[in-house]
Amino acid sequence: MSARILPPTPEAIAEAVALLRAGLPVGIPTETVYGLAADASDGAAVARIFAAKGRPNDHPVIVHVAAGADLSRWAARIPDAARRLMDAFWPGPLTLVLPRAEGVLDAVTGGQDTVGLRCPSHPVAQALLAAFGGGLAAPSANRFGRVSPTTASHVADEFGDAVPLVLDGGPCEVGIESTIVDVSGEVPILLRPGHVSAMALSRVLGGAVLTRAQMDARRPVPRVSGSLSAHYAPRTPLRLAEPARLAGEIAAAAARGLSVGVWARRDPGGAACWLESPADPELYAQSLYATLRNLDGKGLDLLLFEQPPQDPAWMAIRDRLGRAAAGSGEG
Ligand code: TXA
Ligand code: MG
Repeated sequence: MSARILPPTPEAIAEAVALLRAGLPVGIPTETVYGLAADASDGAAVARIFAAKGRPNDHPVIVHVAAGADLSRWAARIPDAARRLMDAFWPGPLTLVLPRAEGVLDAVTGGQDTVGLRCPSHPVAQALLAAFGGGLAAPSANRFGRVSPTTASHVADEFGDAVPLVLDGGPCEVGIESTIVDVSGEVPILLRPGHVSAMALSRVLGGAVLTRAQMDARRPVPRVSGSLSAHYAPRTPLRLAEPARLAGEIAAAAARGLSVGVWARRDPGGAACWLESPADPELYAQSLYATLRNLDGKGLDLLLFEQPPQDPAWMAIRDRLGRAAAGSGEG
């Protein structure tokens, strides 16, 4: 049995609202990736999305809000840096971590004193939020540690009838998860790179935005291991290779009798399957997860992706590829 996928008609939106009010999860499109939404003020509903994902309960989840929503229900205060980022990038693919307001559920914050808020720009997400009239807790609609979904059918494939309804908003325009900035402390910290780049953030803030690794390096306490957590991972082992090494890696794998799927700018030859990767980082991000899912479904022994350029424009993509490779058991 598979979830029902409906085009986002007013009737489908009304049905989604009814399901959400009844505490059930709904798959929703956003401009980044599809989310698995629940009423953020209903602890049992939030617990259901965690259970469906197989995600540990102490992980915080992002609350999605309508454009112009009253944020005082979620955030204790809106620091100046947060206000500037909202004015510049909301609605859009940017999540802000803010001091939590009293009454925000521990199930949403993971018991922390902050809450992640995002105002998505996807018109179907906005229509649903407006009709629902509250905040929607929505992690990416994939099982824990797996590849995020960028189409409605990815969501239906992933959850089957555990999710009663998925609203179809078409393929996601951005394709990778939102940029996350922690603006709850003295300095803004980039927690997850995304489409809204570090450079765009610092332009608006009038100063550099530090990454968590840079923050940790400044502190006189021992650094938490920088190992990449298993995330965004295909089931087939994924390895990254510099362009000049692709052909050699394929030959080595072939010598071990392995069939290889390659995503690279040009066909290096010798692979069981080669797909051409886009030269433009935005197009690359848009097709990254669908390509991972596609190649993962081909029964190959190894996926070999060309390492993208070191340029800042590819920062978020390098982050996701690194995690996908680490999570697949390859490095
Ligand atoms: O683009 C996105 O952000 C998508 C779409 C559906 O909006 N959502 C998404 O949610 O990626 P999820 O749960 O897969 O990833 C959210 C990340 C998690 O790594 C979580 O730890 C972090 O955001 N997060 C949420 N609230 C936080 C908080 N208060 N402090 C620190 N990190 C937080
Ligand atoms: Mg996720």
